[in-house]
Amino acid sequence: MPRKAGLPLLWRRGFGPAFSTALLLPVVLLGGVSSACRQDMHDAPRVEANEATDAFEDGRGNRPLVEGTVPRGWLNDDEQLTTGKVNGQSVDEFPFPVTRDVLERGQQRFNAYCSPCHGRTGMGNGMIVQRGLKPPPSFHDDRLRTSPVGYYFDVMTNGFGVMQDYRAQVDVKDRWAIAAYIRALQLSQRATVADVPADKVPDLDKPDTEETTKPAPSHGSGH
Ligand code: HEC
Repeated sequence: MPRKAGLPLLWRRGFGPAFSTALLLPVVLLGGVSSACRQDMHDAPRVEANEATDAFEDGRGNRPLVEGTVPRGWLNDDEQLTTGKVNGQSVDEFPFPVTRDVLERGQQRFNAYCSPCHGRTGMGNGMIVQRGLKPPPSFHDDRLRTSPVGYYFDVMTNGFGVMQDYRAQVDVKDRWAIAAYIRALQLSQRATVADVPADKVPDLDKPDTEETTKPAPSHGSGH
């Protein structure tokens, strides 16, 4: 041990025994401790990820997962809910009832995640597009208007062309809520008198009041 050999050497050079013991001994001891630590941390006696080991017959430190293991939160046993498809075909039904709460959630998520490019009404004229990004197609084009809701879910889940996917930012239920809200936007541009419940039809001729304009924010402020 070279460090310990150093102590008598310094003694011989004339340091007083009291001085050197008081000052150098802790240094020597610390040196010993830290060099021991360093060695341990360099190569701890555990198997690192992907490290080989002879503890198992196949020589691999990684142990295979027990057959049938599903990570928490990743059980995809409902194809329609998690892919928007059944047998590879986009579905045109929602996997859960579309309530007012779902639509309001969808509106809020759509405005946060989609409107910067697609615009608040889905015309494809969001602020980022006005600043130069490739304009997305309008959700009111015939092709997209007649695309099944599962298709919207799929575009959000996997992206489309230059559009990134939103699977990390928008969870499964919210993706459906957004698809429902897009359907509401599409309807809002093409509604006819036949879409109005019979008991509300007489109200159509009344002048707008706050009460009649409030549920239709997409009409803008001019009404
Ligand atoms: C950063 C801009 C941006 C955002 C944010 C964005 N998109 Fe897009 N989206 C695009 C562009 C650009 C296209 C056209 C892509 C292409 O054709 O390469 C597109 C295309 C689409 C299409 C049409 C696919 C087709 O068949 O033509 C749908 C549906 C769509 N987006 C839905 C959404 C939804 C829903 C959200 C919110 C979760 C969203 N997008 C967020 C830019 C965006």
